[in-house]
Amino acid sequence: MAGDQNVHGQSLLSVRNLTVTFTTDDGRFKAAEDICMDIGRGESVGLVGESGCGKSVTALGLTRLIPNPPGCIESGTVLFDGADIMSMDTAALRKIRGNAISMIFQEPLSALSPLHRIGRQLAEAVLLHRRISKKEAWRFAEDWLRKVGIPDAGERMHSYPYQLSGGMQQRVMIAMALMLEPALIIADEPTTALDVTTQAQIFDLTLRMKQNFTSLLLITHDMGVVWEMCERVIVMYASRIVETGSREAIFEHPAHPYTAGLLEAIPRLSRGRQRLKDIPGQVPSPFNYPKGCHFQARCPYAFERCRRETPPLFDCGGGQKSACFLMDKAKE
Ligand SMILES: Nc1ncnc2c1ncn2[C@@H]1O[C@H](COP(=O)(O)OP(=O)(O)OP(=O)(O)O)[C@@H](O)[C@H]1O
Ligand SMILES: [Mg+2]
Repeated sequence: MAGDQNVHGQSLLSVRNLTVTFTTDDGRFKAAEDICMDIGRGESVGLVGESGCGKSVTALGLTRLIPNPPGCIESGTVLFDGADIMSMDTAALRKIRGNAISMIFQEPLSALSPLHRIGRQLAEAVLLHRRISKKEAWRFAEDWLRKVGIPDAGERMHSYPYQLSGGMQQRVMIAMALMLEPALIIADEPTTALDVTTQAQIFDLTLRMKQNFTSLLLITHDMGVVWEMCERVIVMYASRIVETGSREAIFEHPAHPYTAGLLEAIPRLSRGRQRLKDIPGQVPSPFNYPKGCHFQARCPYAFERCRRETPPLFDCGGGQKSACFLMDKAKE
């Protein structure tokens, strides 16, 4: 299956047929199945879908950060700047993760050591990748704390992570991720603990980095943020990519009934006080994904073929693709 195309020429990141499984006491299941994606240089891509559909697993899988056990990368190739991530040795991988690819996680403490002061952690990260003096590295890091909106940055450099609030910890992690000007930022719900103004500041910083050809994979539940930040959107449902396309295509003419349902659930000012529409039904447990299309039980258009076959990503034109047999019917 071909991956989705981007408009930025040669891909910085190219993922093909990535499948991640987990083995638990209750059995084995696929948390991400046959994932294909491309991210161009300087391109920002939003990855969306309801909770549990495999967004974080996909991000962890493509950087080989899946905990093993219980997880396992069953198959797939990942090329980053032409280098094969899946066959890379640990030293090379660590170098790429700290420098060329930055990750911002949902949980800030996972990225910060509890044992060291923030200033030391940031300055050491700078020194690892830049040939500058310790003093310059310290000042550089302090500057970044200021840029992400930390008050009294000079003093905060001497704090331990536990001495900061969740929101402040998240800002430190964001400073850590952005300051080395990575080629790719993978941000998994990066601003959940932050107030709206700070969120806007952080997104503004990230957008400015884009002008230096930094690429972005942004995982979020917030379709408004996707509209603001991303040129292309990938929609996942129950472990699979179900639709991908330009921001305009996805928002203005979604092809997959699941994408349409997600968009229906966005609050719109013009709707006044009208109640938000949920997609009826629930995401199935990964142990019980049905044969055929995973969305069939919730889909108002499901027909016999959806229960029998797995829909591939059909080309809808203009770079948009949808894993829905309705697209195939349209061509018949
Ligand atoms: N370490 C793990 N062990 C077992 N199962 C896991 C583990 N991590 C993730 N999973 C399972 O894999 C599936 C995909 O999870 P994932 O965290 O990728 O969802 P998500 O789309 O990121 O959801 P959210 O929006 O809530 O962050 C879920 O069924 C989840 O329970
Ligand atoms: Mg997640």
